[in-house]
Amino acid sequence: MQGNSRRGVRLTAAAAAAMAAGLLMSGCGGGAATPGAANAAAADPASAAGASGSINICGGKDASGIYKGTAEAFTTANGKVTAKYTEIGATTDEARTQAVQRLEGKSSECDIFLTDVIWTSEFASQGWLLDQTKLVEANMDRLIPSTVETAKYEDKYWASPFFTNAGLVYYQKDKVARPETWQQLYAEAAKSPGNSFVYQGKQYEGLTVNFLEMLYSAGGEVLDDKGVVTIDSPETREVLDFMAKGLKDGSAERAVLTYNEDPARLAYESGNFGYQRNWPHVYRLLNATPLAGTFGVAPLPAWEGGKASGVLGGWNLAISAHSTNPAGAVAFIDFATTPDWQKHVAMEFSQAPVNEAAYSDAAVLAKMPFATELLASVKGSKPRPISPVYPQISQAIYKNVYAVLSGTASAEDAVKTMAEEIKTAKASF
Ligand code: GLC
Repeated sequence: MQGNSRRGVRLTAAAAAAMAAGLLMSGCGGGAATPGAANAAAADPASAAGASGSINICGGKDASGIYKGTAEAFTTANGKVTAKYTEIGATTDEARTQAVQRLEGKSSECDIFLTDVIWTSEFASQGWLLDQTKLVEANMDRLIPSTVETAKYEDKYWASPFFTNAGLVYYQKDKVARPETWQQLYAEAAKSPGNSFVYQGKQYEGLTVNFLEMLYSAGGEVLDDKGVVTIDSPETREVLDFMAKGLKDGSAERAVLTYNEDPARLAYESGNFGYQRNWPHVYRLLNATPLAGTFGVAPLPAWEGGKASGVLGGWNLAISAHSTNPAGAVAFIDFATTPDWQKHVAMEFSQAPVNEAAYSDAAVLAKMPFATELLASVKGSKPRPISPVYPQISQAIYKNVYAVLSGTASAEDAVKTMAEEIKTAKASF
């Protein structure tokens, strides 16, 4: 991962300054403010009324069209502020690298960054974002609580939730059964090559998510409530062995080792597979292919003898500390988070709204028939570890999971290495 050593230096310097100022009590969990977050300027909710000019919104691949679509709808509705969308990366990891480069360089190119829910602690602790506490508090009653939590760091809010995310299983109704457990899904998938399962197995954040979805449902975890690393567990070994066996016996397609979200979607569109794990936006895209009407959508299955669980995804709207038009950015956020636009989030782009009422709206249900189950999945999903060094924690997970899946490490060795690397990452902040 690029930038680690540089960030290490930066964090050390920041931590030293904080300790000198008596601010840092016990590392990131100490409750005392990190300097970047403590000195951040705040976004002013009242500024939206007088906003004008243009804003640039930067983020990852716009597969669903939601980013460009929202920028256009806002420009038309506002009349005074023009918004455009700039794609800065194909995957969440690439978008983060690009965002970090701009923020470290104090670039004013992007007014708003679409931030993955896992980036908040890192970006806020570095002082890269405007404090959005007043905006978020004004909208609190319309937001699903777990989505608001993803924008929080040290008791302030650093972004506004835009859409949330929960993994789903798409399945070909003529070939395979709706899955109740992961074991049943893999067994059905093994019956014929045309039944097999595609997911995100490349070395990147998506593999961390795919692995943690199974680990959480098997009862495992990365950290316990106190932040102690507990990933070295029988559950982790069991899930790793299960995933590796699935690639060997043909339950899962081997090419998943190169797939992120879009390649998995495109592979499934060939009609050559039985199951696909992906996000809700795939529903609308799949309905625009010859597979329309042939597939079902199900919540993630349970682990046999365990329960169903998931990993909370989603994207927030953060205002860059270097924006030259924060008022325009606030106006855009006001628009994107209104209950009305949140219905469009589901109806036009098949993404999961952060406004709970949208899920029971009749027009939404007509376009997104699985909205009720999606809301249950969102509410049943657990967050990934919350830490300013989350990228290193995740890298320790996906690198070692990948080593097992690609056959270069045993589950036993991978679990030990993973746990050690997560401990080292945590100790670095
Ligand atoms: C989706 C999720 C995001 C997650 C990513 C992994 O974009 O919304 O939270 O990190 O997938 O690839």
